[in-house]
Amino acid sequence: MSIKETLSFHFLKETNLSWENLGKREIKLEPTFPYKAYPMAEKIPLPLEEFPQTEGLFSILTKRRSERNYKRYFISLREIAFLCFAIQGVTARVGHYLLRTAPSAGALYPIETYLAVNYSRDLTPGIYHLEVRSFSLEKILEGNFGKILREIALGQAFFETASLVFIWSAVLRRTMAKYGERGLRYIFMDVAHICQNLLLASVALNLKACPVGAFLDEDLDELLGLDGVEEKTIYLATVGK
Ligand SMILES: Cc1cc2nc3c(=O)[nH]c(=O)nc-3n(C[C@H](O)[C@H](O)[C@H](O)COP(=O)(O)O)c2cc1C
Repeated sequence: MSIKETLSFHFLKETNLSWENLGKREIKLEPTFPYKAYPMAEKIPLPLEEFPQTEGLFSILTKRRSERNYKRYFISLREIAFLCFAIQGVTARVGHYLLRTAPSAGALYPIETYLAVNYSRDLTPGIYHLEVRSFSLEKILEGNFGKILREIALGQAFFETASLVFIWSAVLRRTMAKYGERGLRYIFMDVAHICQNLLLASVALNLKACPVGAFLDEDLDELLGLDGVEEKTIYLATVGK
């Protein structure tokens, strides 16, 4: 089989940009609201009084590794807050755009973040949604989901010993309404920026993290109550010590 016969190659070809096809591949998708919130959920503000003193960037870059050996460490809300700031902290406001620590194509921010908290000294186990505007967590499910996430991640055992699992979904329409089919490329780039920030911030906080792409998509969508069409899960990362 040649690469040219694959669906992936077809997608890349059909979504490439050239002077010839510029502006000719538009699709009709209505834009949607750029933020998600669970107004009925219990809300936990994330504390960010003072940033911790950490090693320099190049030392952190040198140390980063995908680490999977965790000891059921009870993570603090303060540590969670710094991780959340690293991935989606708002650092500037330009018009109605809330610019963040991670870049986003067209400042459209298609990625939503959920945290499955297994072990924390300050938060009860459960699944929380990161509400970016108020920088708080919204509790959407109660309980330790380590075992279930392990199954969803094809049996990867470290999901059970991780303190936290970050789950990222994409609200496809946010980016695709502007960029059409090519928008999907940008969505995956967006989430990779976010995840890399998490991995580096984890090293800075003496935590360990691992990005995870192997999971049962539909089962994870179902766990979070996502329809898998307008919003679907696309990436995971475990964090522990
Ligand atoms: C997109 C992506 C998906 C990954 N999925 C998994 C995974 O499902 N399970 C896992 O243990 N590691 C996963 N990894 C981590 C890689 O195995 C790891 O980055 C690679 O072995 C290089 O090691 P390093 O990150 O320590 O430098 C993934 C990494 C990326 C970038």
